[in-house]
Amino acid sequence: MKRKEFIEKLGIGAAFVLTSTCLGGCTRDNAEPIKDLDLLIDLTKDEYLELQNFGSYVVIKDSQVVVARSNSGEYVAATLICSHDQLEQITYNDSEGGWLCTAHAARFKEDGEGLNANGSKNLQIFTTELDGDILRVTS
Ligand code: FES
Repeated sequence: MKRKEFIEKLGIGAAFVLTSTCLGGCTRDNAEPIKDLDLLIDLTKDEYLELQNFGSYVVIKDSQVVVARSNSGEYVAATLICSHDQLEQITYNDSEGGWLCTAHAARFKEDGEGLNANGSKNLQIFTTELDGDILRVTS
């Protein structure tokens, strides 16, 4: 029996207990793409000031999104969930551009295309749109 089937048989309450103890530590069979994401980020807020620097990124854990200021100065965004083992460890790779998972070194281009074996399932990328100091991130 696969983990997902096991959790479905236990029901929602038990699933919550199991998943809440696994956050950041265990793997999942598959990650569902993030749908209906519509995030407004005020770049003047303290928690986003890091994005003023090229090659820097901010993790928005509640939305499972990583927003980065690319090495070329563009705002880019990706899912925090790696397509390899679904760990929430995607970062912006400032030394090479693109995305890097710190769990097992999966690498992805800025457009989400995988660059090595662990990145072969590609990475979900979001659309970014800048309007003044407000950055909109959508799926
Ligand atoms: S979970 Fe990201 S490389 Fe394995």
